[in-house]
Formats: sequence, structure tokens, C-alpha cells
Amino acid sequence: MKCRVCGQDAHISLRSYNTALCSQDFISFLEKRVFDTIQKYNLIGNNDTPIVAVSGGKDSLSVWHILNKLGYKADGVYVDLGIGEYSQESLAKIKKTAEGLQRKFFVFPIRKIFEKGIDEIAKVMRRVPCSACGMIKRYAINKVCMDNGYNVLITGHNLDDEAAALLGNLLYWKEEYLWKKSPFLDGHEGHLSRKVKPLFLCSEREMAAYALISGIDYIHDECPFSINAKSLTYKNILNNLEETSPGTKLQFIKGYLKTIKGIEEKKRDISYCTTCGYPCYGGTCSMCRLLHRFHIKDRIGFEEWGSNLDITQKMMT
Ligand code: FES
Ligand code: ZN
Repeated sequence: MKCRVCGQDAHISLRSYNTALCSQDFISFLEKRVFDTIQKYNLIGNNDTPIVAVSGGKDSLSVWHILNKLGYKADGVYVDLGIGEYSQESLAKIKKTAEGLQRKFFVFPIRKIFEKGIDEIAKVMRRVPCSACGMIKRYAINKVCMDNGYNVLITGHNLDDEAAALLGNLLYWKEEYLWKKSPFLDGHEGHLSRKVKPLFLCSEREMAAYALISGIDYIHDECPFSINAKSLTYKNILNNLEETSPGTKLQFIKGYLKTIKGIEEKKRDISYCTTCGYPCYGGTCSMCRLLHRFHIKDRIGFEEWGSNLDITQKMMT
């Protein structure tokens, strides 16, 4: 097979586009796709201050890499869940990427704050680790955005993630979540940042190829607690459909975007925590309740890793 652009040997076939490309042209193709998505859906503007939620995996590190390559000067934020080697290795990969990009990133070190990892915290909260993790991540990421003036939060969700989530929401008619699958969620003025997903139209396979060809050093393991059987099942179903009808996932998501155009988002009224003042849905926020439970008042903060490669670790109160 020959590359559609340059006519040299092709290295990757893109069946959903009915084409094949060499490595170099594939990189240009994918970066252009991300750029076009950002432009078409107004994900990031010239006056925005973006930050990427990084996990150490291929998608978040790749989107961080691509954005900076495209000229969007984005910093990073990482919630260190304190899961032994998995978290240490993730942090090491993030540091390495940040050094390469010469960007700053913030770390919310759960084990230093709570003296426990996410699994032990979840037990105290009587929740599954993923639910405790979701709550802490939301709080920490909001806090870093609000305290440091980042108005756009970028996540590495790709086409497969979005298609699987959409399928799940449709199967159970979770109407309240359906609008959430658009490539961006508006923030609340001056408070919650806008959340955007520039990889919305890039598949898992394309992102793995991009990371490999670009030499992005990412953690291959999934979080040991995030093995969500349902979303994996949906991904498998969609992959089977894709196998027989290439382009199905893309059409599914694009059709959805057309359908929801013009539909008003159902926004919940946001209020502010009576203890810490950060956004929540009434009374005292879950994080303040958790801190109270652990008798923690003054260890809540971030480590900041400098863009000049000097480690400027500090915990802010
Ligand atoms: Fe949430 Fe692992 S528990 S990513
Ligand atoms: Zn609070």
C-alpha cells in the first residue's frame, strides 16, 4: 500500500477514511485533525489560558504534546492517586513530557495530603475507588484552574471513549448525560473553566499510533481501579461494528453532534461551599467533608514543577 500523500510506502491504513499514510504524513494528518476540531468547535481561543489534565497515558500526554506543537501554550495538572508503582511511573512520564515541552505542571499528591492512597480513602468514604477518585479529581482540578487563572481545561478523551459513553447513555436513556458528550462544556463565568476534548474525533488506534511514532513515553497500564467492565464491553461492540463497517464510530459521534446542535444544555444551578468557597452543589462540598473526616486543615495544596526544569516543589495552603 502506498501513502496517499507522498506515494512512498504506507505505514498505517485508516479504513474509516478509506486511505493509507506513511508515518510522517500520518503525524501531519492527525495534528491537522486536532487543529481543525479546535477551530470548528471553538475549543480554545487566542486569549485563553489552557491547562491539560494529564494522567501519564497516551491520550493526555499526546494532546499536551500536540497543543504545544500547534502553539497553544498549555500547562498540566496531575492528581497523584498514591497507587504505588503505577502512580510513580505515571508521574515520571509526565515529568519527562513536561521537560520536553518546557511547561509547568501541578501535582495534587493525595498520599502526602491524606497519608493514604485512593483505595484506602475510598474505603473510609464507603465508595468504590473510581467514585472517590472522580470527586477528588474534580475538586483538585477546579482548584488549580481557579487559583491560577486557567480558563480552559483540556482532557484526552478520544473518539472511542466518547462513542462508548454515548452508547451507554443511549442504551439506558440517561438523558441528563446526553448533552455532556459534546466536545466542550461551558464553564460558569469566572469560576469553573470550560472543559474541552480536542481528541474527540481521533480514535484510540490513531492515538496509539501517534504516540508511538512521536516517541511519546507514556504509561501503558490502565489504573488498576478503573477497569470499568461496561465501558470496555461497549468499546468491544463498537470495534466489532467498525471491523465490518469502517467509519461507524466517526459517523455515530458526528451524527450525534449534528443532532444535539441547538439543544439547550440542562445546567444545574451551582453554588459555593460554605467552608472553602469552591463550587459545589449545596452546603459543604464533599472535599471539605472528607478533609474534616481525616482531621486535615492545612495540608491541602499542590506541588508545582517548574518549566525551567528546576523542581520548585511547594505545597500551598
Ligand atoms: Fe480513578 Fe483510577 S481510581 S483513575
Ligand atoms: Zn469545600
